[in-house]
Amino acid sequence: MTQPKLLMTRVLSPAVIERARRDYDLDLNESDHIMGADELAARCQGKDAALITLTERFTAEVIAKLPPSLRILATYSVGYDHIDLAAAKARGIRVANTPDAVTVATAEIAMLLILGSARRAPEGERLLKEKQWRGWQPMQLIGRRLDGKRLGILGMGKIGQALAKRARAFDMEVHYYNRRRCSPAEEQGAIYHASFDSLLAVSDVLSINAPSTPETRGCLNAVALAKLPPGAIVVNTARGDLVNDDDLIAALKSGQVSYAGLDVYKGEPDINPGYYELENVFLLPHMGTSVIEARNEMGFAALDNIDAVLAGREPPFAVV
Ligand code: DGY
Repeated sequence: MTQPKLLMTRVLSPAVIERARRDYDLDLNESDHIMGADELAARCQGKDAALITLTERFTAEVIAKLPPSLRILATYSVGYDHIDLAAAKARGIRVANTPDAVTVATAEIAMLLILGSARRAPEGERLLKEKQWRGWQPMQLIGRRLDGKRLGILGMGKIGQALAKRARAFDMEVHYYNRRRCSPAEEQGAIYHASFDSLLAVSDVLSINAPSTPETRGCLNAVALAKLPPGAIVVNTARGDLVNDDDLIAALKSGQVSYAGLDVYKGEPDINPGYYELENVFLLPHMGTSVIEARNEMGFAALDNIDAVLAGREPPFAVV
């Protein structure tokens, strides 16, 4: 029996590739390069499904060139801002993502960025690596404790809730702003704010956990940053384009923001060069889900989505 044809646009974990090879006639991008629009459209020809990642941009133009055989774009991510959903819907192509698989790993990296920023870990490491450490000093690299500090979470979905749980273990007081108020079981005592402005005013630490949408893009700009308590910490593990980088860099220089812990960037990997000049940043290369548990689960969830659509069933994590 011939197997359905699947394009896998990047080299995923061995377990995921093994399952994909078992169940599909797999076209794997063995060299793991990032495909541009023309190559993406060409490589999708004759395929039944595509397992894609956030490095491939499925714009309306690319989607218009997809073959009628292609029934699903299964993204290996919770975020789907790299896909033009309206264009996919208009073509009758299903889109599905991997929300559960990324939750714990992303919440952990947010916690790492909060801790590393509050305790100035990047500066400490630099001191050692640059062989500048002269020994213990009473007032060296003075940071701040987290207990009793207010953590403001923008976006109280699964990742926001998982971060809140971890922050509570550090005795932080959790506040959040979300499109809808969470249920008491989801809130676990977190304090709801009806507006972003109200959240900003109480955020000793602000964590961005909201998706990139037309409403959220650029929301952390100079006006918003000025509403934070002076010396606040800003952490972003969601998408870079929620932040106005020039404004955040200016706030880091003025001290309005004391530290930023960033895992995601607008235009990554070409990040705003201003960040490289700053001491008070903890910069990671979009590695929120870089743990084998998450990467396997993400791949399996994407394959579950594909299996379902090709079998005429509803995908477990449907977006469109
Ligand atoms: C996601 O799931 O959207 C992450 O950014 C991938 O690491």
